[in-house]
Amino acid sequence: MKPCPRRGSAPVAAALVLCAALLLPPALGAGPRPRQACATCRGIADRFNQGLADTAKKNFGGGNTAWEEKTLSKYESSEIRLVEIIENLCDSSNFECNNMVEEHEEHIENWWFKLKKKYPDLFKWFCIETTEVCCPAGTYGPDCLACRGGSERPCHGNGHCDGDGTRGGDGSCSCNREYTGEFCLECADGYYSILKNDTHSVCAACHDACKTCTGSTDKDCKDCKEGWIKNEEETCVDVDECAVEASPCKDDQYCLNTNGSFICKACDVSCVGCTGEGPGKCKNCLSGYTIEDEKCTDIDECNLAEKVCLRENEDCINTPGSYKCVCSESFEEKDGICVQTGKRGEEVETLATAPPSAGHEDL
Ligand SMILES: *[C@@H]1O[C@H](CO)[C@@H](O)[C@H](O)[C@H]1NC(C)=O
Ligand SMILES: *[C@@H]1O[C@H](CO)[C@@H](O)[C@H](O)[C@H]1NC(C)=O
Repeated sequence: MKPCPRRGSAPVAAALVLCAALLLPPALGAGPRPRQACATCRGIADRFNQGLADTAKKNFGGGNTAWEEKTLSKYESSEIRLVEIIENLCDSSNFECNNMVEEHEEHIENWWFKLKKKYPDLFKWFCIETTEVCCPAGTYGPDCLACRGGSERPCHGNGHCDGDGTRGGDGSCSCNREYTGEFCLECADGYYSILKNDTHSVCAACHDACKTCTGSTDKDCKDCKEGWIKNEEETCVDVDECAVEASPCKDDQYCLNTNGSFICKACDVSCVGCTGEGPGKCKNCLSGYTIEDEKCTDIDECNLAEKVCLRENEDCINTPGSYKCVCSESFEEKDGICVQTGKRGEEVETLATAPPSAGHEDL
């Protein structure tokens, strides 16, 4: 994959030129990943310019002696500076970048020592004209053909040209959301035209209620969006999906109409079925709840005339929708009855102190 001889071997200089001329362009231009190659090259050119900026003040003490000026200007176009810049062109893990720099080091050196005055734009000289992995903006593909809609304003400014600026792609347009068509001059569904001629097209969003439209309001709809319907005045209005007899929601949910749609929300825990939010909108109350002030309200089973916790030494604790019978303090359940655990004070102490292994000298 690397038929070009390395530099430093004098007899092959002529072969190298031939090699560069004949082998490199097809190898790179028609490569399997021309977009990636261009991105890599662009990265190299960017890092080179960054390196130029970073080394601009080097070897310059800030004074302005003749000696310093001479040293500076020498450094400015020196091999030392070039090497410093080249060292930082690629992250060490970036194989493709390192490969490209290695492959074209001669080109970069040639540019640095001989051509940079004439071709100050490294990206253009290196990536477009020399390695031929990129194209000028607005063009694409192996031959840098103009993008659809022209290279000046690809896709008429309303989309992205496939392969734009690279040797890849097919120049077709992917339009921005508002636009459609091969040239991104048509308005997409949900947008209408506010300006259009052969080269320019501007589309704006329809009203929320419209699928397609001719203007900005809900009266300008050609077709209504799903969830909306035309009324007698040809205006698209929201369909109330919740107004139907059979709710579209589950039994333990209520239906909430929204613009163009609806949502199902959970009923209150005290309800068996409901028509809205909260314990006041229950169709029926869950067992353990009863209607009080027009709301499903928890029944306090512990306060009923008839006792519910019947064993000795047990307390009744009310819970939402139910109750619990538990042994009283310093009693514990054993074989279905509540038996005493010990002195009251001891029990409290054990509960209050953890871990139990901690010292209790005062006990
Ligand atoms: C098309 O419209 C744009 C924007 O208003 C304008 O700049 C351009 O000159 C127009 N082109 C033609 C051919 O009318
Ligand atoms: C529906 O949208 C209109 C404005 O278009 C707004 O005034 C109204 O509150 C919205 N209704 C709902 C249920 O979101």
